Amino acid sequence: MWQIISSLLIYYLFRFAIFSKRFVKVTKFSTVRHEVQQGASSGIGAETCRVLALRGVHVIMGVRNASAGACVKAVIIKEIPNAKVDVMVLDLSSMSSIRNFAENFNSQNLPLNILINNAGIAFAPFTLSEDGIELHFATNHLGHFLLTHLLLEGMKRTAQETNIEGRIIIVSSDSYKLTYHEGIRFDRINDELGYKSILAYGQSKLANILHAQELSKQLKHEDVKITVNALHPGGIVTNIMRYQGFLDGSSHNMLLGIASASAGSQRQILRRQQYNRSKISCDRRRSREEAVGF
Ligand SMILES: NC(=O)c1ccc[n+]([C@@H]2O[C@H](COP(=O)([O-])OP(=O)(O)OC[C@H]3O[C@@H](n4cnc5c(N)ncnc54)[C@H](OP(=O)(O)O)[C@@H]3O)[C@@H](O)[C@H]2O)c1
Repeated sequence: MWQIISSLLIYYLFRFAIFSKRFVKVTKFSTVRHEVQQGASSGIGAETCRVLALRGVHVIMGVRNASAGACVKAVIIKEIPNAKVDVMVLDLSSMSSIRNFAENFNSQNLPLNILINNAGIAFAPFTLSEDGIELHFATNHLGHFLLTHLLLEGMKRTAQETNIEGRIIIVSSDSYKLTYHEGIRFDRINDELGYKSILAYGQSKLANILHAQELSKQLKHEDVKITVNALHPGGIVTNIMRYQGFLDGSSHNMLLGIASASAGSQRQILRRQQYNRSKISCDRRRSREEAVGF
C-alpha cells in the first residue's frame, strides 16, 4: 500500500515539475533586442515569436497572411500583455514583396539584432513563383537570401553601434541530405522534367546551409559581429505537411506524435504545452495547429 502511495506521489511530482509553468524560467535580455521573424504565422515561427517576446524582444513578424499574423499576435499579447509585437506583410516567394518589406522596415530606422529566416514550404507539386522560379527554391532559399541581403547593412550598423553580437538564423532541415544527385541543380532549377517535390525541398534546404556557411565566412572576414547559423529543428508537428494529400499530412503528424510520446521527449512536452494554449486560440486555423517546439 505504502509503495503504491509513494509511486503515485513521485509520478504526480514528476508531472508537476515538467508541466508547471513555474518551472519554466525565461530570462529577459538586459537590453531590448529587435528581431525580424519571417514565417511567423504558424508552427515553429509563431512559437519562436512567443518565446522571444517573453524575453522582452521587440518582434517584427513578417507574414504573407496578415490576418493569420494578427491572430498569432493576439495570442501572444493575451499571454504577455506588455509584449512588443508588430506584423508586417512579407511574401517570401515574391521578390517585389520582399523589397517592399525591406524598404518599409529600413525606412523606420529601427535597430536589428536578430533575423530568423524560418518561412518554408515542403513537398509542394511543381509550381513557379510569380518571378518564374521553382517554388521551394524561391521561398525557402532565394527569399531568405534576398531578405538577408536587404537587411544586412542595418544589422551590421546595429551590431557596431550597440556592441551586441547580431544573430542570423536560417531554419533548414535534415532533409538537405535528400536532394538531387547533382546537389543543387543550378542549371535546371525550373525544370519540371525529373521534378520530385521531396528532392526540391531537400535542394532548397541544402542551399540554406551553403548560404549560412558562406555568409558566416564573409562576415568573419569583414570582422563584423554577427553570427550566422543554419539549423534542423527536429521533426515537429506543424502545418509543414499541408501539401501532402492524406488529411493535410495528419498521418505524418500522427506518426511524429506517437514517436515523441514513446520517446517521452522534450518535444512532446512542448507539444502538450502548446496544445493547452490552443484553448485560447482565436480562430480555427490556430486551433488546427497542435504543436511546435525545438
Ligand atoms: N516541422 C518540422 O518537422 C520541420 C522539420 C525540419 C525543418 N522544418 C522547417 O521549419 C520551418 C518552419 O516550418 P514549420 O514546421 O513551422 O511549418 P508551418 O507551420 O507550415 O510554418 C511555415 C511558415 O512559413 C510561412 N510561409 C510559407 N510560405 C511563405 C511565403 N511564401 N511567404 C511568407 N511566409 C511563408 C507559412 O505562412 P502561412 O501560414 O501563410 O502559410 C508559415 O508561417 C520551415 O522552414 C521548415 O522547412 C520543419
